[in-house]
Amino acid sequence: METQYWHVEADGQAIKQAAKLLKQGEAISFPTETVYGLGADATNEVAVNKIFKAKGRPSDNPLIVHIADRNVLEDLAVEIPAFVWDLLDEFSPGPITYILKNKGVVARNVTAGLETVAIRIPNHPIALELLRESGLPLAAPSANLSGKPSPTTAKHVMDDLVGKIAGVIDGGTSKVGVESTVIDCTGAVPVILRLGAITAADVGRIVGDVRVYKAEDRLNEAPKSPGLKYKHYAPEIPLLLVAGDSSRLQQVINALQADGKRVGLLACTSTASILRAEKTVELGDGLVEIAANLYNALRSFEKGIVDVIVSESFTEVGIGKVIMDRLTRAADDVL
Ligand code: TXA
Ligand code: MG
Repeated sequence: METQYWHVEADGQAIKQAAKLLKQGEAISFPTETVYGLGADATNEVAVNKIFKAKGRPSDNPLIVHIADRNVLEDLAVEIPAFVWDLLDEFSPGPITYILKNKGVVARNVTAGLETVAIRIPNHPIALELLRESGLPLAAPSANLSGKPSPTTAKHVMDDLVGKIAGVIDGGTSKVGVESTVIDCTGAVPVILRLGAITAADVGRIVGDVRVYKAEDRLNEAPKSPGLKYKHYAPEIPLLLVAGDSSRLQQVINALQADGKRVGLLACTSTASILRAEKTVELGDGLVEIAANLYNALRSFEKGIVDVIVSESFTEVGIGKVIMDRLTRAADDVL
């Protein structure tokens, strides 16, 4: 299949053409503020199947439905608790996904047969325009091959999916850089299933009580968010996440090198400037910048250049928690 590539700034027809293909049941990648999504008509089972096929995604992992306006929410979900409207007032459009009771309007494969549906209003002008132009709720997971880091540029999407999807809209680099906060709103107290830029403290400020789901607390239960059970964001090279200061990091690097390994280093700019490895990828400084650069950095290590990636650990404050959550999931070992 030929994959169309539109640059919105250069092509005034881009969104119209992409919307037309979506209405015809094709899968199209578009930018959001978190990461690029791979969208298809959420009410069309055949169209949604194209997403699973292109990504190589297991069919038991449900998709997030994207909408432009909150009044669509009641078309897709039932028994929406009052606190959800408060969260919407504060955080949507934005990097937060609400798990609600499913009304049964979206295609069955979107929700992987669950009785809940995930809904998000993205905060990106191109995503919102595409949703409005197509008039469709769009099921859209991150637009990467399953198991690879989420894409934060149109180039990442092309690298993974060219020839497999109908088109990609290039809207520049995603600002946030990590996926949305997923919050289960089906119980009396909201539960954060996936950490994101909107933190538990942010949610707590609005709703009072909030919990953060920890898979290890409930080893005997089915995973709440099916996506959490898969190893995620893994680059193709083993990743070691190292705690401690820069001298400990250098010791780990030296030991690996003594073992004949070529080492890739992932670190903030100030740490990177004082360490030596075969290849260093700088994440910038400050947690917000580091989050925005993380997936591009993970993708930039190539097989054949380094044998192992060593990553610095970051302060678990604010979005630092999200960075550490994703690095821990990507890591083969935490030292
Ligand atoms: O920022 C984002 O959320 C991006 C952009 C494109 O919007 N999307 C994204 O989608 O990260 P995806 O499919 O890569 O991750 C969706 C997560 C998965 O962990 C999935 O298991 C979970 O949300 N999820 C989807 N529907 C669910 C449901 N009904 N109940 C529980 N978890 C659900
Ligand atoms: Mg994903």
